[in-house]
Amino acid sequence: MQERDVILSLRDVSKSYYGVPAIEHITFDIYNGEIFGIVGENGAGKSTLIKTVAGAIPANGGEIRFKGEKLELKNPYEAISKGIGVVYQEFNLFPNLMVYENIFFGVEIKKNGFLDRKQMIEKSREILKELGFDFDVREKVRNLSPAFQQATEIAKCINHQVELIIMDEPSAPLTEKEVDQMFKVVRKLNDDGITIIYISHKLNEIMDLTDRVSVLRDGHYITTFITKETSENELIKNMVGREIADIYPAKELSDQEVILRVEGLNSSKVHDVSFELRKGEVLGFGGLVGAGRTEAMRLLFGADKKDGGRIYLHDEEVSIKSPTDAISHGIGLIPEDRKAHGLILNKSIFLNCLLPSLKRYSNHGFIDFKDSKKEIGEYYEILKIKATGQDQLCLNLSGGNQQKVVLEKWLLKNCDVLILDEPTRGIDVGTKQEIYQLIKDLAKQGKGIIVISSEMPELIGVSHRILVMHEGHITGELQGENITQEAIMTLAS
Ligand SMILES: Nc1ncnc2c1ncn2[C@@H]1O[C@H](COP(=O)(O)OP(=O)(O)OP(=O)(O)O)[C@@H](O)[C@H]1O
Ligand SMILES: [Mg+2]
Repeated sequence: MQERDVILSLRDVSKSYYGVPAIEHITFDIYNGEIFGIVGENGAGKSTLIKTVAGAIPANGGEIRFKGEKLELKNPYEAISKGIGVVYQEFNLFPNLMVYENIFFGVEIKKNGFLDRKQMIEKSREILKELGFDFDVREKVRNLSPAFQQATEIAKCINHQVELIIMDEPSAPLTEKEVDQMFKVVRKLNDDGITIIYISHKLNEIMDLTDRVSVLRDGHYITTFITKETSENELIKNMVGREIADIYPAKELSDQEVILRVEGLNSSKVHDVSFELRKGEVLGFGGLVGAGRTEAMRLLFGADKKDGGRIYLHDEEVSIKSPTDAISHGIGLIPEDRKAHGLILNKSIFLNCLLPSLKRYSNHGFIDFKDSKKEIGEYYEILKIKATGQDQLCLNLSGGNQQKVVLEKWLLKNCDVLILDEPTRGIDVGTKQEIYQLIKDLAKQGKGIIVISSEMPELIGVSHRILVMHEGHITGELQGENITQEAIMTLAS
C-alpha cells in the first residue's frame, strides 16, 4: 500500500478509571480522507478512546497527534475549533438552545456588534438542506427526534469546518430509513474530504461503509483490517477472541398449551390486533419501524390506554389497566427505549436489579441478601456484564453494559410472558449470542416470549413464528419454512 497522509496518530494512549484500566497502550494511525471503523465488545474501550481523542476526558499516558501536531485539549469545546467533531453516543448539544444556536455555538456571526440571527438561521438551513434535511432551525434541540439531533451535530461540525468527524454508534437511535439517510450523509462528508471514524456494533454497516477497521478487545488494540479484505466472521473472531459458529441456537418448537390470548386490541395506532402465544414459544413481531408493534405491546402491558380488546392468561380473562397489573399477572416488558425507562445511574448494579424484585427477596420484612446476591450474580455472569463487580455504579458502565443491566432487572422478575422490544440494540455480537441462547432457555422453561426486532436476521433467527404488522394491522403470519426476509418485507409494506 502506498504511503498516505496520517491525520490522526495514537501512540500508547492509556486511560484508567479509579485505577482500573479502560484502554491500554493503544497505538494506530488514521489516514486522511478515509472512513475508519472501530469495533469491539461492550466495554472494550471504544467510547473511552474517542473521548480521550476529543479532550472530553484526559488520557493517563501516551501521545495523540492531529495533522502532525501534538494534541493537548483541555476541554471538549477545544476539539471542534481544532478541527475534530464528535457525534457522541449520548448527544452533546445544548438542549435548551435552538438548532441554529447550537450550530453556531462559538462561531456566532455578528453585525455591528450584535448577533446576526437572520444570517445564522439562513446558513444553518443551507447546511442542513445540503445534507438532505429540512426542519425548523429555530426549534429547541430538546424537542427534536434523535435523527434531527444527529443532523444538528453534523451540521455543527460542518459549520466549524472540521476535518475529522468521530461517530459513536450513530445508527443506534435511528429507524432504517434514517440510517439510509445517515449513510448518504457520511458518504457525502467523506467525498468532501472529511475523515470519518465510525463506531458500530452492526458489522454489516462497518463492512458497507468503512475503508479500514480496527478491533479493540478488553482495552487493548488487537489489529486493523482493510475492510474489503476481511469478513464479519473474522471481525467477530478478533472481537470476542474465539470463533462463534452459530449465533442462533437451534429452535425447538413448542406444542404446549396457549398461555396468552389477545383479542381485538385497539387504539389510535393499533387496529384489531389478535394473537395467541404458547408456552415455550418465541413469537416474533416483524414490520417497519412505526408499524405499531411497540404500541400493540404497550397496550397489552397496560402502559397505554386501550380503546378495546380482551386479554386472556391461561384461558382466563384478565384486566390490565397499568404496568403494575401486567406485572402482577406475570407479564413483563423490556422496552426499546431503555434510557428513558432505565436505571438509577448513581446506584449500583446490585441495587438496580434488586429494587424491582424486592418483594420476591423479602422475608418477613427482611431482605435476603444472600439469595438475591446469588441470583443477581448468575444473570450478571450469563449476560457477561463488564464491571468491577455488582457494586459498581451504573453511571460508570459502558453504554452496552447499562443496557444489559436493564435486561437483567427484568429477567429477575421471572415473568411467565416476557416481551422483549429490540432486545439487543447496542449490544455486542458475543453477548447477542448469549441473549439468543437465554431466550431459548427461557422458552424451554415454559415461558412465552415475544420479540420485536428490526434486525431481520435476528427476528428470523430466534422466532418460531412471526406476525408481521403494517400500519397498526397484523398483515400476516409466517411459520417454519415460510419465514424469509422477502416474505416479511412483502407483508410489512
Ligand atoms: N466514568 C467511568 N468510570 C469508571 N469506569 C468507566 C467509566 N466510563 C467507562 N468505564 C469503564 O471503562 C471500560 C470501557 O468503557 P467504554 O465506554 O469505553 O466501552 P465501549 O467500548 O464504548 O462499550 P459499549 O459498546 O458498551 O459502548 C468499561 O469497563 C467501563 O465500565
Ligand atoms: Mg461506547
